[in-house]
Amino acid sequence: MAHLNDKAAIVTGSASGIGFDLAADLARRGAKVMLCDVADPMAAVARLRDEGLDADGMVADVADPSAFAGVVAGCVDRFGRLDILVNNAGLFTTIGRAPFEELDVDEWRRVLDVNVTGPFLCSRAALPQLRAAGGGRIINIGSATVFSAPPNMLHYVASKGALTAMTRSMAREVGKDGITVNLIAPGFTISAGVLEHQAATLGEHGARMRAARAIGRDQMPQDICGAVSFLAGDDAGFITGQTLVVDGGIVMR
Ligand SMILES: NC(=O)c1ccc[n+]([C@@H]2O[C@H](COP(=O)([O-])OP(=O)(O)OC[C@H]3O[C@@H](n4cnc5c(N)ncnc54)[C@H](O)[C@@H]3O)[C@@H](O)[C@H]2O)c1
Repeated sequence: MAHLNDKAAIVTGSASGIGFDLAADLARRGAKVMLCDVADPMAAVARLRDEGLDADGMVADVADPSAFAGVVAGCVDRFGRLDILVNNAGLFTTIGRAPFEELDVDEWRRVLDVNVTGPFLCSRAALPQLRAAGGGRIINIGSATVFSAPPNMLHYVASKGALTAMTRSMAREVGKDGITVNLIAPGFTISAGVLEHQAATLGEHGARMRAARAIGRDQMPQDICGAVSFLAGDDAGFITGQTLVVDGGIVMR
């Protein structure tokens, strides 16, 4: 279970939602984890510490060009190193849905800023420490919507499509440093944000998703953890530039 002993990780967007479960799982597998969120992550940190896990937290907006350097420095101050960056922070549960001809351009820009520019900025800021760790890991959280192409969320699908393509180019650039870059593409997941912001449509949408899956049940945040912790570990050191769909078998490629 503890295959990440002696590793340190940052998970963005981990005060709640999928990011919290990813951070908790990495910590349970031995990693020291820095939670980072635009919202105060210290209540989430306290939950992990109550379990006896080694965790800390910092507030940062991933779209702020200068903010993440402080998180990387904080991680190194606290844990002495940085091995794993999980770019999970993203706008999904709170964004508007509409045909693309009706999408608000300011919201379009904000989604691209957080979901595309955010991972670029965080990865760039983390790179010197990932190099220093000798074989770092960048794990981007994309979306299976890039392959299933649902209507009414072109801003979101475009942002995750960009992140999928960035994963490959980033992998090419940093392979020489022993750093791997991969992307997990989850299907519709009952996260805290979905429960809070999409309650009105959850019943009908959830049923449609269950019917479409080979494994016909709801997808929960915990369903994504195993893929992330595998890619974070030493066993995945020769896997890079890849997209792994984790959606219970809707998209098959
Ligand atoms: N829930 C799904 O169905 C689903 C499916 C596929 C992919 N994803 C992706 O998984 C990730 C997490 O989704 P979720 O459902 O847990 O969302 P969520 O809304 O429940 O949680 C998102 C977290 O990110 C934080 N955050 C938002 N903007 C931020 C910013 N600019 N800087 C730092 N933190 C920020 C929020 O405060 C929150 O804690 C997102 O990238 C999302 O696109 C979600």
